[in-house]
Amino acid sequence: MSDTSTTLSLDALAADARARVAACAGLAELEALKVELFGKKGAITAHLKSLGALAPDERKAAGARINAVRDEIGAAFEARKAELDSLELERKLAAGRIDVTQPGRGQQPGGLHPVSRTRRRIETIFRNAGFSVEEGPEVEDDWHNFEALNVPANHPARAMHDTFYFPDGRLLRTHTSPVQVRAMLREKPPLRMIMPGRVYRCDSDMTHTPMFHQVEGLVVDDGVSFAHLKSVLHEFVQQYFERDLGIRFRPSYFPFTEPSAEVDIECVFCSGAGCRVCKQTGWLEVAGCGMVHPNVLRNVGIDPERYTGYAFGFGLERLTMLRYSVNDIRLYFENDLRFLRQFG
Ligand code: FA5
Ligand code: MG
Repeated sequence: MSDTSTTLSLDALAADARARVAACAGLAELEALKVELFGKKGAITAHLKSLGALAPDERKAAGARINAVRDEIGAAFEARKAELDSLELERKLAAGRIDVTQPGRGQQPGGLHPVSRTRRRIETIFRNAGFSVEEGPEVEDDWHNFEALNVPANHPARAMHDTFYFPDGRLLRTHTSPVQVRAMLREKPPLRMIMPGRVYRCDSDMTHTPMFHQVEGLVVDDGVSFAHLKSVLHEFVQQYFERDLGIRFRPSYFPFTEPSAEVDIECVFCSGAGCRVCKQTGWLEVAGCGMVHPNVLRNVGIDPERYTGYAFGFGLERLTMLRYSVNDIRLYFENDLRFLRQFG
């Protein structure tokens, strides 16, 4: 503080300090005033320093007076600080008050992706029919993805899969069929399982994406026939769609099954009349299937004279499109919340 205040009489100083402390409107102002009075260059400090200049017999009485004033002003500070603290608290409480009459802001809970919902649905349907659910790696080698499945190098069927290769010769699996191979190497018949997962192909249009999901199915046992395959797939389609959709088995070719078929389902968009989605055919291909080729069984050490099996591979996005009437497969991977929220 300035020299004038050091020269103020102690009484005047005390009166002035009391008034100013009481007038402080905020904690910061109070703190500044405290420094002004009690700091190194403060008025009270100046009074204490002046004691040294007094005669020894005067010093005691003067010191006692200064101390009394200091204590009194100190107490005034504490009292004002407590008042300001509680005002501050009240202000905060008032500002943060919860108005329970306000309408809610609305919760927007997340939901499973439609493809995940479909996958779970399919798993439940097959589990109920006594199938187990298995998985395998997405990065595969040529043997599991092709060779063991009766697709040797240079086999024309390799052109059906536009494969993504790694520099070391490994690849992103082009279908879930290599999981069959792994399962049959690991376990001996009877086998009854589905194998859902991601697969990859260099492919893109309204009904094809470079990454998609398949669900492989495999049953190997004594006396397994094509009739079993047909009835299981028919039953599955009924349960999955919860209605009677047209289904047809179209003779086809896969190197790993013989005989082979493709499974088509009546196009839900045009009810078979023909549209853009089904490319005017009235049908949408949802699966490939067939009886496991004897060469495949041999490759995994299962005796084809003793056992037979069937296998199928569904496209999961296709099934999801059909169930929810989604007409462009790419919508599943754009993560547009307006699209995804419809499946909440
Ligand atoms: C296969 O991948 C065989 N592994 C299926 C199989 C398994 C046959 C077991 C016999 C025994 P395909 O290439 O047709 O077959 O694919 C199967 C299904 O995957 C198709 O019916 C289709 O629904 C889906 N699919 C194929 N390519 C794509 C793609 N690029 N995007 C989305 N779905 C696809
Ligand atoms: Mg096909």
